[in-house]
Amino acid sequence: MTTPIIGWESSDPVPENHQFNRYLQAKNGRLHFEDLDLANLFLEGDQQGFSRIMPSPLEIVYLPLIGRQIAFMNQVFADVSAELGYNGRFHYTYASKANAAEEVIRSTLKAGAHHEMSSAVDVDIARIMVQRGLLTPERMVICNGFKPSGSPYIRNLISLKNDHDNLIPVIEDLAEIPDLLNSGKPFNVGLRAKSYGHNTSLQEMDDANSRFGLDSKSLWKAADYIQAAPNLTLTLFHNMVGSQLTDKDAFVSYLKPGIELYAQLRQRHPSLSIFNFGGGMPVAMTLDFDFDYHAFARLLLTTLQETCARYNVPEPDVMGEFGRYTTSEHGAHLFKIIATKDNNSDLPWYIIDGSIMSSFPDSWALSEHFIVLPLTHLDKPFQQVHLGGITCDSDDVYPPKPSHAPLYLPVETDGLYIGFFSIGAYQEMLGGAGGSKHCVVAEAMELIIDREENVGTKQGQNASTESSRSGRYQFTILPGQTASDVLSNLGYD
Ligand SMILES: Cc1ncc(COP(=O)(O)O)c(C=O)c1O
Repeated sequence: MTTPIIGWESSDPVPENHQFNRYLQAKNGRLHFEDLDLANLFLEGDQQGFSRIMPSPLEIVYLPLIGRQIAFMNQVFADVSAELGYNGRFHYTYASKANAAEEVIRSTLKAGAHHEMSSAVDVDIARIMVQRGLLTPERMVICNGFKPSGSPYIRNLISLKNDHDNLIPVIEDLAEIPDLLNSGKPFNVGLRAKSYGHNTSLQEMDDANSRFGLDSKSLWKAADYIQAAPNLTLTLFHNMVGSQLTDKDAFVSYLKPGIELYAQLRQRHPSLSIFNFGGGMPVAMTLDFDFDYHAFARLLLTTLQETCARYNVPEPDVMGEFGRYTTSEHGAHLFKIIATKDNNSDLPWYIIDGSIMSSFPDSWALSEHFIVLPLTHLDKPFQQVHLGGITCDSDDVYPPKPSHAPLYLPVETDGLYIGFFSIGAYQEMLGGAGGSKHCVVAEAMELIIDREENVGTKQGQNASTESSRSGRYQFTILPGQTASDVLSNLGYD
């Protein structure tokens, strides 16, 4: 099994101008995030119009990458649709569960994305965005998640219909239909197929051990029930099969039974017009990531074309709910190395001034890998090390425990800062924003960076082929937690 590339893999210094990925580059021994010298935030301040010296640890939220991800995927589907003469439209939808921070939702809406939600409080977020004029009437809001009869979620959702007409509740369970029917309001609705998982036949889908969606028998029943309801219209078929699916052939083959079912349902229910493949679109979380988005789109659209032709039904609009893909890369978390320890271990330990496990829960819970690079001393020799968090938990380490991915950092540790990159999806939501953390470690300050972009049209996804970007940076600081915030959280008022 190959190990993912999580950083610099050599004892040699990093060559000047080495480009790690499309936004991280070595310059003058320092790591640059596009035009930002990250170490400068701690050392000298004064760059790109920002003059404050920041404390470590520090969370970075780099908003321009969000809009670019959305623009890139829209372009991919536009290119491939034109090439294939595909008749349906493509709808980019942001899956807000990946990161529900205000600045993130604002950025996805400004970039033209539709919106996906999954809980009662999510409805309040949508309502706020409608009131601010960002969630505009033509945007679809896809309402996933369990919404049992009488629950706060379904009640809040039905009331949101007064503020925003373009809502599509997606039925997870037959018992969710009566509240919508009894509301008397006209709803377009979706049906979620029981497809979460790597199934390659309808039988496997029906037999899967999954709490999501409806098996095929219940789907047909729900579709008929909706057809008979005077105020409900079946519009969307939801068919999510997984997350971070890096094998495009497998991704589409898991979708095939659902596509077949879509076409069959479409024959009986002509109002059905959107095939929603849900999440799963992968994104670079390590440096060896390689995924051909055009090839994926081509395979998906040709499969839809071929299947719909066989059933003699029109090609549907295609929707994806992009969570990780939208927000992973805009987030980084910077730390200082505050101690080193040999401790007779196979490799030296470098200790950071924060917690790995509570900042990036997926690294210890799922052994997920993220990119780790030094911000300083890139032009000096490196050595292989283990990273340890400041908590007393034996799992607060990186690389994650079973991993064999080597991590090299500079031998020189005086003034050594490091960054974890591509941590913007799910990590903060799972670790909890603003709560009390493991070993009562306080939450870091956050620096939100935006840029009025003046971007050329050529967007390179895997290489540094982007055309020049310019525009003024804007910086916003969100305070971290103070000791008294943490204490009062825990009842020590
Ligand atoms: C219904 C639904 N849609 C979309 C997503 C987003 O998935 P991803 O982050 O893989 O894009 C999820 C994630 O769990 C989901 O449950």
